[in-house]
Parts: sequence; C-alpha cells; structure tokens
Amino acid sequence: MMRILTLTAGLAAFAAPSFAAEPMQFRSVKGNLPTVDRIFPGGSEADAINNNCLACHSASMVLTQPQLTRTEWQSEVDKMIHTYRAPVDPADVPAIVEYLASMEIGGGEMARQDPETTRLPSIYTFAETIGRLRAALESKGFTIFATIDHRAAAQSVGLEMPPTTVLVFGNPRGGTPLMVAAPDFALELPLRVLVREDGNGRAWVVYNSAATLEGKHDLPSGMAERLAPAGKVIAEAVTAPAAGP
Ligand code: HEC
Repeated sequence: MMRILTLTAGLAAFAAPSFAAEPMQFRSVKGNLPTVDRIFPGGSEADAINNNCLACHSASMVLTQPQLTRTEWQSEVDKMIHTYRAPVDPADVPAIVEYLASMEIGGGEMARQDPETTRLPSIYTFAETIGRLRAALESKGFTIFATIDHRAAAQSVGLEMPPTTVLVFGNPRGGTPLMVAAPDFALELPLRVLVREDGNGRAWVVYNSAATLEGKHDLPSGMAERLAPAGKVIAEAVTAPAAGP
C-alpha cells in the first residue's frame, strides 16, 4: 500500500519533464486497425474516435472506464495527446469528446466484453525495448522474476517465429493485498509484459491494463487500480524519448 502510493507520487513528478514536446512518432500505426469487433460502435458518429483512438488500445478498454463528464473526457483526450503522444487530428477532437460524453459508458453492453489489453508501438528496437523495460521496472521497485524468450524456445525444437519475449515482474508490496482480498487473483500475478517484433521490424509492447483486471476473481472494486503504476512505467519506458546523460 505504502509502496504503491510512493510509486504513484514519484511517477507524477517524474512524468512531466520527460514528456517534453517531441514530434509525433506513431503515424505509421494508423493503418494497423484492430479487427472490427474492437472498434467504437455508432457508425459515422464514431468515425472521429475510430480514426484516432484505436492505435494503442481497444475501444472496449475505453468504453469500460467509469462515466466521465464532458470536461473530464476533454482532459482524458488531452492526456492521450500530450502524455502518450497519440497522433490525434486536432480537427477531430470536438467530435471525439462529444462521442465520449454522450455514449453510455461504464454500464452498457461494452462493459461486459472480455478484458482487453493495451498494445503500444515502441519507439525503440526490440532489444532496446526489452532493456528499457527492465531498467524502468527495476528502478521503480519491481522485480523481474523471469524472462520468457518464446523465439529461443521455438528454435530449440527447430521452429521459427518472430522475436517474442515476455517479462514476468511484480512487487510483493503491491500484489499481496490484492491476493489477500481475492485469493484467486493470484492467478493474474505476477504481472507480465510482452514485447514482440512485427514483420516491419517494429517492436510492440502488450500488457493487461489495470482497468481490465478490475473485478476479476472477485477482486473488490477499485483494487485493480493499485496495479496501474506498472502500466504507466511501461508506457513511459517505450514511448518517451531517451533522457539525456
Ligand atoms: C499512442 C497510443 C495511444 C493512443 C493513440 C490513444 N491512447 Fe488512450 N491510452 C494510452 C495509454 C498508454 C494508456 C494507459 C493504459 C494503462 O493504464 O495501461 C491509455 C489509457 C486510456 C484510457 C484509460 C484511462 C487512463 O487515463 O489511463 C482512456 C479512457 C483512453 N486511453 C482514451 C483514449 C482516447 C479517447 C483516445 C483517442 C483520442 C486514445 N485513448 C488514444 C495510449 C494511447
């Protein structure tokens, strides 16, 4: 508990300077839309949000958030643009906010969809991405328990696959209270982050966002939030330009 609070506070202080304005680097992912059942419903009213908000996470990840006010949705969109450097067309922002503010979010059909994952394009190579994730997680108090190199395993039996590595990591101070509150939640821990390389040499980073673990295995509501710092460490490690010396 204490540890998580410290982490969150530390991150807030740490996040601001390292997101200094940089040109957007994600343009190329725009053609890489997820499959159709993962887009925002609503036909043409959803065009703006579908065109701008699906590069990194699914629609249902957004639609399972708690209902926010229009102002809060505006700052959420600003956060995507400024913190995570989402390549959003400024002309589409009003339509996106309008869509989010008028959607029935949080309790509707979408809220019952399967948990979804967050998928981020890394601005680093596959090897750099793994190195940066290890360093960032360790520096925030997480332990890397295992590194699963699926490709090496495949090669050991004469099979080929693209570079694909899963880091298994966690922090007993963060995870223990969740497992005490919901014993079966231990199945979700330690946390994992996947790094894989696509056919174009781009590294992708995939992980369960804290919001999608909400309520799993009867976890009391709100507790999954305690895992959110891990997602933020990951996102920053692979999307923020390397700090100077
Ligand atoms: C460049 C990648 C990227 C794009 C594009 C993007 N997001 Fe996000 N978004 C993220 C990351 C990273 C998180 C944090 C996920 C986590 O907590 O694991 C996030 C989280 C969220 C959340 C959950 C609440 C939160 O603040 O963590 C909402 C809601 C959201 N995004 C909405 C949007 C909307 C609306 C758009 C389109 C305007 C958008 N996103 C586009 C990267 C992106």
